[in-house]
Formats: sequence, C-alpha cells, structure tokens
Amino acid sequence: MSVTESAILEALRQVEDPDLHRDLVTLGFVQNVRIDDGAVSLTIELTTPACPVREQMKAEAEGVVAALPGVTSVEVEMTARVRERQAPTGDLIPGVRHCVAVASGKGGVGKSTITVNLAVALAQAGARVGLLDADVYGPSIPMMMGCADEHPFTESSKILPIERYGIKLMSLGFLLEEGQAVLWRGPMVAGTVKQLLQDVAWGELDYLMVDLPPGTGDAPMSLAQLVPLSGVLIVATPQHVAANIAGKAVQLFRRLNAPILGVVENMAGFVCPSCGAVTDIFAGLSGQELASQLDAPFLGSVPLDPAVSGSGDEGKPAIIAHPDRPQAAAFREIAGKLAAQMSIRSYADEPVSAA
Ligand SMILES: Nc1ncnc2c1ncn2[C@@H]1O[C@H](COP(=O)(O)OP(=O)(O)OP(=O)(O)O)[C@@H](O)[C@H]1O
Ligand SMILES: [Mg+2]
Repeated sequence: MSVTESAILEALRQVEDPDLHRDLVTLGFVQNVRIDDGAVSLTIELTTPACPVREQMKAEAEGVVAALPGVTSVEVEMTARVRERQAPTGDLIPGVRHCVAVASGKGGVGKSTITVNLAVALAQAGARVGLLDADVYGPSIPMMMGCADEHPFTESSKILPIERYGIKLMSLGFLLEEGQAVLWRGPMVAGTVKQLLQDVAWGELDYLMVDLPPGTGDAPMSLAQLVPLSGVLIVATPQHVAANIAGKAVQLFRRLNAPILGVVENMAGFVCPSCGAVTDIFAGLSGQELASQLDAPFLGSVPLDPAVSGSGDEGKPAIIAHPDRPQAAAFREIAGKLAAQMSIRSYADEPVSAA
C-alpha cells in the first residue's frame, strides 16, 4: 500500500510548534509534499531562520511520517520565511518585516554590545539583518563593527548602508566629521531618527535592530512614534538600580504601544579566563526576576567576559572573534528566542487559516 499526501498531512498534525502552540499543518508550514513509491520528501517553512526548535521539529516531523505504513524513507527540508507585516501607508521602512528596539533604563549596561552580537547571530542563522544606531548622542556601532572610518555613498537620493559581517549598518557616526559635536534639541533628535530610517536604502530586511541611547528620552520616544515596532528588548544588569530604571523604560514603551519582547541580563557573572568558572559579581535582582516583575519573557543571560569588551574595542563582535566561548553560545540562544518572540507576536492577534 502506498502512502497518500492526506495521510502524511494528518500525521504532521501531531507535530506542534512549541512557540506558536499550533500544529505544522494548521500553521501552513508544510509544503512540497512529494511521494515516490515509499520515499517521501517535504519542506517545512518556519517563520524565522533563527528558530530555536528547528532541529526538534524536523526530527519530530521525520518521526511521524516515517511511522506511517508504506513509507520507506523521509526527507524533510527546513526553510524559513519571515512573515510580512501589514505596513501602514506612508510607512518609513516598508521593506522591513520586524523592527526591534534595544533599550535600557541605565547607561553602560551593554545595549550596543548586545545589539551588535544579536544582529550577527541572526545574520549567521540566515536572516537579512539591518542595524540602526539611534544613539545620536554617542554613536558606538561603527567602532564596534570595525568600520568607523567608512563614509556611506548616496544613490538615487538614498544613503547606502555600510555592510559588515553580513549586516547593513547605519549610524550618525558615519555622517559626522571626526570630532564634530552636535548640540541636540528634542525635535532635532526626532528629525535625525526619522532620516536614519527613511533616507537610508534599507531594502528588504527580516530584522532591523535599533540600538537606542539609555533612558526614556527623545530617541526612544521618536522611534516608537515613527515606526510600528515589533517590540522592545530590555537589557539590564543584575543590580537593583539598573532593574528599577529598566522598569521606567518598560512603562514608556508600553504607553507607546510597543510590546516588550523580552529581558536580557548582561554581565550576570564573571567567566574566569583561565578556568572558565562563572562567579557572580553584582548582587541584586536577577534578570529572571526582573522579567517576571515586568511581566515579560526572560530571554537569557550574557556573562561578563573580558573577551566581550576586548573584541568590541577591536571592532569585531565577540560572537565572531570568539565563537566558542560561553557568551557566543548565549548570544545565539538569545537571538533565537528573540526571533521566536517576534514570530509569536505576529500570530498573536490573528486566527490561523487551515492549510
Ligand atoms: N558581557 C560583557 N562582558 C564584558 N564586557 C562587556 C559586556 N557587555 C558589555 N561590555 C562592555 O561594557 C561597556 C559598555 O557596553 P556598551 O557600550 O555596549 O553599553 P551601552 O548600554 O550601549 O552603553 P551606552 O548606554 O553608553 O550606550 C563596553 O566597554 C563593553 O565592551
Ligand atoms: Mg550604547
């Protein structure tokens, strides 16, 4: 007896996406089912290439299909397509599917470091990624990405982003002369953030990560008002003060209708360079506790590691300079969870049509 496509789909209904809580068939993820005698091949199209449970779902899908009578072999190809968002008319970045802001209450908690490394992790997973440095007061992305001396070109009245490590970058730092200082007033910040969104040839991107200055000032306000944010990632260190101020940033974004995608705890423990043991440095609220206080998902911790600051200064993100250290694994895991949160949000308010 040879197996039928409907039997295969029926079997795949047993496999659920653990983040979206629906089965692969209902989600419309199953494509290109081919049956050649008992040899079955099919494609599963996920909503992000950085899916943290990709291999688990592949194995489960292979398992349920292989168990069907008449099946001699199963080949499952995993692909991904980030869902299009409903861009409102006049949208400043129509080709961008998700815009994520990275924020903190307190300065110096590692926002820029986290943004850069997560952006690289998403690009390494196969996503099309842009990185916008919206810290107009102290742009640090060009240095961290090793391209502080670059000057972008303009084409058809749009500024071409600088490309590094597979990411499209834009920062006010590229547009200012060296040593040039800007005296900011509120409306100027809004205007500059708008320009960095609208006048840059971002093209088609799955994720645009936006690195914000600390606090609840003009830049986060402007950003949240200028583009529909998929959400905000909050970075905090395990100190009470940092945590309490993080709460204020969260309130601001909630008021502006930008969902909190999650909390990342940075500098959570010190990794000893010689033995690799992790020692806690700051006493205080843990990232996990902060996340539950803020009623937001906890996405993970990044340890304090001299390799992180060193590679930031050298212009090479730690995830590239030291891919085997614990922090690189942490960045990859957090990037996957962040991508999953965006997928979850994109399904949150809508019923899924059966495939
Ligand atoms: N996990 C880490 N381990 C070691 N050093 C780190 C880590 N995270 C960040 N740093 C270092 O801490 C300093 C501050 O980080 P970063 O500039 O990313 O913070 P920030 O929150 O963006 O700061 P600002 O508020 O000024 O924008 C940098 O020197 C960076 O290299
Ligand atoms: Mg910064």
